[in-house]
Amino acid sequence: MDRFPTEFSALLTSRGRSILADRRGVLARALDADRLVYIEGAIARDTAMAAHDLLERQLRPCLVPLVRAIPPEAIANQTRNHQERLIKVARQETAYLERRSSRAWKAADRIGLIAMLQSESLRNLAQRLSGRPLDRRSGQQVLRYGPGDYVGPHTDHYPEDPRAAGGYLDVHVSFGHPDVRHHYLVWALDGHFTRMVDVNRPGGIAIYRLPFWHYTTPLVARVGREATASRWVALATYRFAPAAGRPRAHAFGGKVGPSS
Ligand SMILES: [Fe+2]
Repeated sequence: MDRFPTEFSALLTSRGRSILADRRGVLARALDADRLVYIEGAIARDTAMAAHDLLERQLRPCLVPLVRAIPPEAIANQTRNHQERLIKVARQETAYLERRSSRAWKAADRIGLIAMLQSESLRNLAQRLSGRPLDRRSGQQVLRYGPGDYVGPHTDHYPEDPRAAGGYLDVHVSFGHPDVRHHYLVWALDGHFTRMVDVNRPGGIAIYRLPFWHYTTPLVARVGREATASRWVALATYRFAPAAGRPRAHAFGGKVGPSS
């Protein structure tokens, strides 16, 4: 594979297209109830592996580290029992794909990733599941998790952004690898971290109705396979359209913030 298909629907198997068409509203109801749905088997294994290989070859050199460690003061400055606070900590690599002039954008454009993440078929999927009109523009980002990479508990809530403050939708297309032993996404429902899914699939699609508490466990490689164990995520963010008759409060500047 040298390029992603222009339309997201072309990345899918016919069964995958049928599942994501969601004619009976199964996915939409699951998203309402669970905040997150994860779909396996909608992308053929060979296609997903070829996509992983393409990203490794063409986009990896354009990534930047996204690292924020637990501050030592998180313990040293704690004066009362059970008063700990944790900021969003993470270790991964990313490219935000916001500026056309950036090296990452040019590489992603060259391999068709920008077109696929901005395609009508991907927008239509988000539109079907969101139940609300979406903003015309979307944000795009890629993430790469190598051995030990993770994201700590966080909400992806952006209360200062008028069209994200009330919630928004993310679609994450995930390309795992057989050299990864495990990688999990954990999220909270009804106040407890009770939900978990193995996201290391050759092709998996996670749809998030944000914000909600979630985290990604450290990626664990198979023994001796650390050099080739990685998981990529190509994601699109859709904010809701402004209410009719109200002026736009902000020009869209891409992804509302670092995701995971
Ligand atoms: Fe996140």
